[in-house]
Amino acid sequence: MREQDLRELLRSMSLEEKVGQMVQVTGAFLEEDAVITGPAADAGLTADDCRLAGSILGIAGAKRLREIQDRYMEAHPHHIPLLMMADVIHGYKTEFPIPLALGASFRPEAVERAMGMAAAEAASAGLHVTFSPMTDLVRDPRWGRVLESFGESPWLDARMAEAYIRGYQGEDNDLAVPGRIAACDKHFVGYGAPVAGREYNHSELSEHTIREYYLPPKIAAIQAGTACVMPAFQSLNGIPCTAYGKIQRDLLRGDLGFEGVTISDWSAVGELVAQGVAEDAREAAKLAIQAGVDIDMMSVCYARNLKDLVESGEVEERLVDEAVWRILTLKNRLGLFEDPYHGSSPEAERRTVLCREHREAAREMVADSLILLKNEGVLPLNPEKKTAFIGPYVDSRDTCGSWAIFQDRADTVTLREGVTECGLGENAEFFQGCQVLENTRVLGFGVEEVFGEPENREELLREAVEAARRADTVVLALGEHTLQSGEASSRGEIVIPAHQMELLRRVAAVNPRVVTVVYAGRPLDLREVERYSAAILVPFLPGTMGGAGIADVLYGRRSPGGRVSMSFPWGTGQIPVYHNDYSTGRPYDPAGAEQKFVSRYLDIPNEPLYPFGFGLTYGSFTYSPVRLSGDEMGAGETLTASVTVTNTGAMEATEKVQLYLRDEKATTVRPRRELKGMKALRLKPGESREAVFAVTEEMLKIWDREGRFLAEPGAFTVYIGPDSRTENGAGFRYR
Ligand code: BGC
Repeated sequence: MREQDLRELLRSMSLEEKVGQMVQVTGAFLEEDAVITGPAADAGLTADDCRLAGSILGIAGAKRLREIQDRYMEAHPHHIPLLMMADVIHGYKTEFPIPLALGASFRPEAVERAMGMAAAEAASAGLHVTFSPMTDLVRDPRWGRVLESFGESPWLDARMAEAYIRGYQGEDNDLAVPGRIAACDKHFVGYGAPVAGREYNHSELSEHTIREYYLPPKIAAIQAGTACVMPAFQSLNGIPCTAYGKIQRDLLRGDLGFEGVTISDWSAVGELVAQGVAEDAREAAKLAIQAGVDIDMMSVCYARNLKDLVESGEVEERLVDEAVWRILTLKNRLGLFEDPYHGSSPEAERRTVLCREHREAAREMVADSLILLKNEGVLPLNPEKKTAFIGPYVDSRDTCGSWAIFQDRADTVTLREGVTECGLGENAEFFQGCQVLENTRVLGFGVEEVFGEPENREELLREAVEAARRADTVVLALGEHTLQSGEASSRGEIVIPAHQMELLRRVAAVNPRVVTVVYAGRPLDLREVERYSAAILVPFLPGTMGGAGIADVLYGRRSPGGRVSMSFPWGTGQIPVYHNDYSTGRPYDPAGAEQKFVSRYLDIPNEPLYPFGFGLTYGSFTYSPVRLSGDEMGAGETLTASVTVTNTGAMEATEKVQLYLRDEKATTVRPRRELKGMKALRLKPGESREAVFAVTEEMLKIWDREGRFLAEPGAFTVYIGPDSRTENGAGFRYR
């Protein structure tokens, strides 16, 4: 539609219709014979509130959404199409590994391709917008939603944010192209830092820390063209983001220039009452629109109050018009006025969803994101020898994580299937060993799962131990339950359940060649696992093709490609522990003599168990010293930093070469080091290649004491190596 016609449309809409555009409800309400129950009924929404709602969320399927669209448009006074939104977080039905694992791939170009496939599947099934990516930087693995983040590095998170958005929206951001969907970057801002890792807790972050760490991925998402942004649920420094005008209007729209649509988080407008900043739904609506929330997701606040707030003069109609203009513009950018189905159809769905190409890409992504944390000569497995696969994850299809809301479990490849189908598992045997959980109750989306003790508990254990005794090598597939990570799944103790650890100890006692495969939605405390395992492989939650991708790596068809993108803590007492923390006075030198008045714990180490960037491969790499093209750099100049990497091992593998920068002196305290570059080099045994990086002025910029973003003169060190601990560095001065 031409802009002029869109303006005309806006002018002709009644206030009630305009408010409708700003209301989002679950799709089920707009289905024929919809009966309003569940959270919607709890929220007090009625069929009447939903009649003019401009967007729906949470359901998919071309036929289903077409029917809703047809019925809705016919009844709508101006026949404006509905926007169909949903959480497609790491795939629609072909689930890729969870975002934390995708971050660990250190390969934005592969992630972009994967999200292009996710978009194609989602669009074929009638969706227009996804609530993704989640670009919240994270440091506290107790928080269950770290599974949805890319990790602790602003730079890596920013690259992944761009990759996601390009994947969904295409390189040129032309949303009308069939097969594309609009992105919604979330959550603005600081949701990834809930105090003590407790879900929905407030966050306390200085402006300096927000700018240095939490904003770069958000800025990358905005610059990449994200169509929407979701303000965060929680309060930031005492003010709920939903009602925080300085954050939404001044920072997001003003400083960062975001022009798209903002959507509240689920019922977040209504929650302003529980947060204690609004007296009632009416005041909540007023605060939210004044702060800048365009769409109210699933609360009655806008639907019930906005019209009256405008009519009584408490809210300027201009604010409503601006929000509706942005919403209509998004619908127009998606081409919905011409094709309200956005190219979706049951045929397109059949062609696209779970197609061979997508499944193959998902399988490759598993190998590329699997982190090999330890390997004392047991991997890859020798297919000629007997391997006992033991553990509750051997046959589990529950490996896609809590956000895989559209998956069909039957499509997931289990570890047993992956092994038997890869053609190398002839000498493999399979045993359950135990359940994932015992004597526990877990709550999911409206489901409660209760796990008792199986009657044959001892027998399962005995059988597993016997098999371990007979085998050359044991692969133990263990981990936390999928419902123990994700939203509303914070944990105080981030360990593998005790009875699974008992299985590990019993197995290791009869066969030390134990490869532990850890399924989890977060970096767990693996201290004890490390003690009993000869090898540790972390797929996190690997998605639809998990079993196949893990088998590829176990049998050496592919080398594991993952690198730690969120530090694995030595123990919970260290949390938050991350590689890019600020320099302190009295730094601790673990290699030095015993020291007291230094920045350390008395009883536990400072360093995590597995640091950022770390991950083994089946190759073995050596690095030349860092070469710099000069030892000085002036304004606007660039230096070249390079190393030669050689695979001295016996297998072909990809090394993820990482560049870290350390600002030796500045007007504000700087991180000890920061990731600023990476390159994937695939090398055959004996092969050498150069990894060349540009060190630009932009990379040196920091927020100074006056709140300016600039490069300050002084000394810098560039480190290039296999992980964040590398000491392979060279210095230069910025003039
Ligand atoms: C989450 C959002 C999500 C929304 C819609 C909320 O609970 O915080 O990230 O997009 O639900 O499902």
